[in-house]
Amino acid sequence: MAELHERIYEIALKRAIFVPSNEIYAPTAGFYDYGPVGAAIRRKIIAEWRRVFITNEGNHEVETALILPEIVLKASGHVGHFSDPLVECGKCKKQFRADHLIEAKGKLGTQTMKIEEMGKVIEELKITCPDCGGKLSEAKPFNLMFKTNIGAAEGNPAYARPETAQGIFLIFPRIFRYAGSKLPLGIAQIGKSFRNEISPRQGLIRLREFSQMELEYFFDPEKGKLEKFGKLKGVKVRLYLREAQAEGTEKLLETTAGEALAKGILPNEIFAYYLALTQLFYESMGIPFESLRFRQMREDEMPHYSKANFDIEVRLSYGWQETVGIAYRTDFDLRSHAEMSKKDLSVFLEIEKKKLIPHVIEPSFGLERLFWSILEASYRKEKEREWDWLALPTKIAPYAVAVLPLMKKDGIAEKGQELAEKLRKRGLDVLYDESGSIGKRYARADEIGIPYCVTIDYDTLKLETATVRFRDDGKQERIETGELARYLEKAVEENRTKL
Ligand code: GAP
Repeated sequence: MAELHERIYEIALKRAIFVPSNEIYAPTAGFYDYGPVGAAIRRKIIAEWRRVFITNEGNHEVETALILPEIVLKASGHVGHFSDPLVECGKCKKQFRADHLIEAKGKLGTQTMKIEEMGKVIEELKITCPDCGGKLSEAKPFNLMFKTNIGAAEGNPAYARPETAQGIFLIFPRIFRYAGSKLPLGIAQIGKSFRNEISPRQGLIRLREFSQMELEYFFDPEKGKLEKFGKLKGVKVRLYLREAQAEGTEKLLETTAGEALAKGILPNEIFAYYLALTQLFYESMGIPFESLRFRQMREDEMPHYSKANFDIEVRLSYGWQETVGIAYRTDFDLRSHAEMSKKDLSVFLEIEKKKLIPHVIEPSFGLERLFWSILEASYRKEKEREWDWLALPTKIAPYAVAVLPLMKKDGIAEKGQELAEKLRKRGLDVLYDESGSIGKRYARADEIGIPYCVTIDYDTLKLETATVRFRDDGKQERIETGELARYLEKAVEENRTKL
């Protein structure tokens, strides 16, 4: 069988889960469109994230502008520093990331290399164009933001936002007042971000247009405690610490969020709480404990203002891949925007009679990387079944149920349609499918991860019962059609993250 990611990619294209954008022209690398199945799964992942990280937590959700004037991104450091090292082939003119080419030759430490040094290393290692073997240019910095101009008159530069976070910092003073002028305060945003990646690759992993789900948790740095951390301190996590990385080993520290905090590995309870919540959320999405680790950023990778950074990495068919960054951003962003805008962004806490610039802890999720990780984790192939399938958690499956009339005659199809409509009216996502053999229809439903198939037959007409088949074990049971909606609602509900 093809590699796992190739097979998933095949299913994705065949079932229009996601497809390269502008496919009928030459597709533009780094952009993907979602068909009905992919759009439904994405919507449900977002709904679950919103429930776990916003609603349940009493945090606040905002939606801010996608285009930001240059001054904002100067303050955040993106205009000056948000770049990757670029090299170009003198022969075929293709462009590559210098650090990726160097790392592919087994040489590490590119994060700390000056850009001129990268050029030298490329020469020393005799690295040539991976496509045509041509000579590569000097490495130069390439800013990753998409630039535009606001309005018809020139001279008003702006950029498509490279992260959703900046909009949150800009709207912070208003939300602070709206939410009662108190800390801590969590503000989240879900939406598109744009990065003009030099070499987008690996399907959904490195994109030019992607979605982030980010939470900025503002707090008084003298109060990093969080009462509800008690509930999550026993959550097991695996940490890939700096020391292990420096030794060049893959040694992981298996511990709990509470122990990691007690040992001083994590900076405070808020950070430890969101790290544990991220672990639980990922496991609830069907990604197993053994495929997860939190990698501690090395000292040389950390932004100067950061007090702690852990990335949740997932073991994918591509190797370990960062999919979430949890960062203690201190007061850097608010302080920088205060300086640039000349507005006072400090807050006054009435009860404590205290003025301060809040600190921020940020869990930042990449939706597409999570989506892909879920697809890989849910992929199943067994000898006993002729087809492969996606064992998606029920809560994020594109449809809760497929309604399949056994045949079209004698009113069976009509009965199926009637049932599908009833279930839809209860708010369930239903696929109605009457074409092809029942085996083919089971295969199609399994392939896009529908957990339940309901077959309508003569007994449904006579007795108002139908056969429900569960995707993962193929087991079937007979259920009264009047009970079906409740049965499916319960299945979706039971599958939600228990927190
Ligand atoms: N506000 C912090 C921030 O944006 P980041 O580590 O640059 O931090 C956070 O991005 C997450 O966004 C990453 O962990 C990843 O999941 C996702 N992400 C970043 N660049 C991406 C890209 N080019 N394609 C797909 N996802 C990306």
